[in-house]
Amino acid sequence: MACTRNLARMPTAPGSLFLIGMMAAGKSTVGRLLARALEFEFVDCDRELEQRSGVPIATIFDVEGEDGFRRREAALLDELTLRRGIVLATGGGAVMREDNREHLRGRGLVVYLQTSVDEIARRTRNDKARPLLQGGDTRARIEQLISARAPLYLQTAHLTFMSGATSPKKLVRRILDSAQVGAMTSAA
Ligand code: S3P
Repeated sequence: MACTRNLARMPTAPGSLFLIGMMAAGKSTVGRLLARALEFEFVDCDRELEQRSGVPIATIFDVEGEDGFRRREAALLDELTLRRGIVLATGGGAVMREDNREHLRGRGLVVYLQTSVDEIARRTRNDKARPLLQGGDTRARIEQLISARAPLYLQTAHLTFMSGATSPKKLVRRILDSAQVGAMTSAA
């Protein structure tokens, strides 16, 4: 499986690992397995936001709009990316803000799980929880989001893996093999 490296300014002893990528790319599943293997804490940014606000992400979008959600997401990412010893699953749109990109790339090892439009469309076909995929032509929406975000994912990530054709377990093994895991665990 392809692993693309973008090693400029890759942290030599990253204390945390941040997963980026589109909705349904497998960030939470892979993140949980990675955290277990590294003996790190797993944190899902969206779930943390829901716990703190007491409402689902969809309600935040309804009440405060996407802008309100992005502000909350950015504040939480700023806090979470400063933690050491965590695997963080970020929301698919986290890379849209420059401050988020800087915090992610500067504070840990960033791994992009790249997924095809077909795979995302298949995995989200019955999704009711993701506000950006409700109503209209979902496939066109996914294509539009990927084309806007793909360059930002690639520029933010230190390592990029194709997700979808491989089991989460195998993907985790490859990520651990490519990442500087010895340095990570000793820095945690
Ligand atoms: C979003 C992705 C979601 C969530 C919100 C917006 C996006 O997270 O943050 O619905 O803009 O792609 P997941 O990537 O975990 O689905």
